[in-house]
Amino acid sequence: MKNIYSNIFKVNNKNLSKVINYLKKKELVGVPTETVYGLAGNAYSSKAVKKIYFLKERPYKNPLIIHYFTLEQLKKDVELNNNFFKLYKRFSPGPITFVLKKKKNSLLSKMATGNLNTVAVRFPKNKILVKILKSLSFPLAIPSANKSSRISPVSAQDVVQEFHRSIKIILDGGSCRIGLESTVVDLTSRPRILRPGLISLADISKALNKKIIISKVLRKIKAPGMLKRHYSPGIPMKLNQIKAKKNEAFIVFGKKYKKGKNIFNLSYKSNLNEAARNLYKTLRLIKNKNYKMICVSSIPENGIGLAINDRLSRAAN
Ligand code: TXA
Ligand code: MG
Repeated sequence: MKNIYSNIFKVNNKNLSKVINYLKKKELVGVPTETVYGLAGNAYSSKAVKKIYFLKERPYKNPLIIHYFTLEQLKKDVELNNNFFKLYKRFSPGPITFVLKKKKNSLLSKMATGNLNTVAVRFPKNKILVKILKSLSFPLAIPSANKSSRISPVSAQDVVQEFHRSIKIILDGGSCRIGLESTVVDLTSRPRILRPGLISLADISKALNKKIIISKVLRKIKAPGMLKRHYSPGIPMKLNQIKAKKNEAFIVFGKKYKKGKNIFNLSYKSNLNEAARNLYKTLRLIKNKNYKMICVSSIPENGIGLAINDRLSRAAN
């Protein structure tokens, strides 16, 4: 299929080289990851990082996640600890982000880390992104490729909808396999989950062999994903509804709900992973269809359901 968007590029060697050159020149590119699409720039360059904040209209106090390819590279920027090694061995590369202490001599742009003495780091699994990281001598700062507080993108077309032509290259890696942002776990003291994701509290507790807490308190700016309003379609939302009017979009889960023009089933089979994958896609679709109200049925609170409900309650705020 021919692309109608001139800034969406299919993945081939020529386009990969183009992306790599762009990143070396401190330009930004849109990239797929296994969680959501990201807006990538050289994490060692204040110039590149500044562009990220500018394009996203993101507050400077909200730090970015730095994406790495090797442990050797990571060691230059942060202090590693035992909890980190256990979780890294079990879950990386994959949808998990670790908050660690920043090293004094780290080359990371201060702006990328919100001037904090901690850094959020992730080893992504998406093959295209791994190939890019492997060809670079610097790590990449990659926030989700959406305007601040809006719905995260899960396809290259979604990225265009957010930024139009202000990003010159968006690599098309198809739909994101997971569809929700990574789990963020703070390892700077007693391990705490700052943002729930596919890798659950139980998974992390098991790997560390201890009880983990989910942080609900917004201490200073631990995870602005915790800022109340986020992931927002810009339409009023009502959660835990059992029905909706015909002119309202109704997001449901499971086969007990009838089919209908205004009914959007996240997973007919009641599969929470499928529901996670469909969540942002569905919110964006509903927004594009110009609904003025969104109702959502209840979603089970286990596994990735916790992350789905977390995003829904922020989107509804
Ligand atoms: O799945 C993901 O993590 C995606 C893909 C693109 O990798 N990235 C992503 O980035 O979701 P972003 O910028 O949309 O969200 C980063 C989250 C924010 O909630 C931010 O506050 C938190 O990570 N964060 C970053 N640095 C932090 C730090 N030093 N301490 C605590 N939280 C931090
Ligand atoms: Mg985001």
